[in-house]
Amino acid sequence: MVIGVPTETAPGERRVALVPETVARLVKAGNAVRVQRGAGRSAAFVDEAYEEAGATLARDAAGVFGEADFIVKVQRPNEAELAALRPGQTLLALLAPLGDPGSVERLAARKITALSMDAIPRITRAQSMDALSSQANIGGYKAVLIAADHLPRFFPMLTTAAGTIAPAKVLVLGAGVAGLQAIATARRLGAVVTGYDTRAVVKEQVQSLGAGFLELELGVDASGAGGYAKALTAEQETHQQELLAQHCAAIDVAITTAAVPGRRAPLLLTEAAVRAMKPGSVIVDLAAETGGNCALTKPGEIAVAHDVTIVGTTNLPSTMPYHASQLYSRNVHALLQLLLRDGALNLDLNDEIVRGTTLTKDGTILHEPTLAALAGNGSPR
Ligand code: NAI
Repeated sequence: MVIGVPTETAPGERRVALVPETVARLVKAGNAVRVQRGAGRSAAFVDEAYEEAGATLARDAAGVFGEADFIVKVQRPNEAELAALRPGQTLLALLAPLGDPGSVERLAARKITALSMDAIPRITRAQSMDALSSQANIGGYKAVLIAADHLPRFFPMLTTAAGTIAPAKVLVLGAGVAGLQAIATARRLGAVVTGYDTRAVVKEQVQSLGAGFLELELGVDASGAGGYAKALTAEQETHQQELLAQHCAAIDVAITTAAVPGRRAPLLLTEAAVRAMKPGSVIVDLAAETGGNCALTKPGEIAVAHDVTIVGTTNLPSTMPYHASQLYSRNVHALLQLLLRDGALNLDLNDEIVRGTTLTKDGTILHEPTLAALAGNGSPR
């Protein structure tokens, strides 16, 4: 099996799909790995390290797409990459099928076997392959550093000769993978942290990190299937927004990470909530890419409204590309161990993980959520 790693082409993307550590393992297992020159440079993995790990280098993307049987990427392919893929070739990436179901149709039409890292079922056996978690963890960590950078105050309490400095108060909305890491990171920096989520089960996890849990009288536990949240009703959502706005005057930082699979991010912080915050406060909206948890978030931008800085920077994992790539690469390797048998692709569709991850095969779309979205029964993000 020849595994190919092209340089990522999406604007601002600094990650690479495989790092030398994984390349060495794949080569040792009898595969050949072909890496585009410079593919790892923006993540601090140089060509020489890939060569030492046993990869061969291709001068350009054509040298990867033309010779590999199995292409591994981070982001979904652009039009040129789609055109470079050959029928029968396999593609593995974060294809985000529900964000653009039409792109899955195009992969099927080209007879590409497409597998998506973000479609891997969140089951215990697949934890080592869970790229959504490995990347969300980085997003949560980085969100706190960005907030600390923009905040005109200290995070920790300080006792100085000039008097005592009160610690920053941080509210983390949505306590899934990213939110829990944000809580832990803000605590390490010395802030007083409160977490909030609509899933009741999360309360204990938040408290075990030394944070308080915000109880809102919503009268609902939105725990849904697979550990994810269910969407609130419009009425509950409005009530939630009003209750959250009441808490905003007391905090210096809000980090928002709330998401419901397959839907636009829930709106948690209205303009009234932002107006209630103290001048100089900071909101970091990790949901910016899927519509934002704050009404005033501008995706990809850092905006100031009502004297509050609102960070809508997208793709935070790419801003920490070394470890983001290393973890993604390990996730890919764990999945490849399930997919490759005796140096060939062995797509066992009876395996829950393989079945859930496979979007297209032999010109057919197999991924049920994408089929539902294409039929108009799902709400694409
Ligand atoms: P996510 O990115 O889909 O959502 C982030 C958080 O937002 C969730 O905790 C959700 O409950 C919360 N949320 C949704 N609507 C909200 C609202 N209106 N207000 C406040 N919060 C709201 O979720 P993520 O981080 O990808 O994972 C969520 C859970 O999935 C984990 O906590 C875990 O239980 C489960 N999981 C299981 C894994 C496994 O078993 N392999 C791996 C990863 C996650």
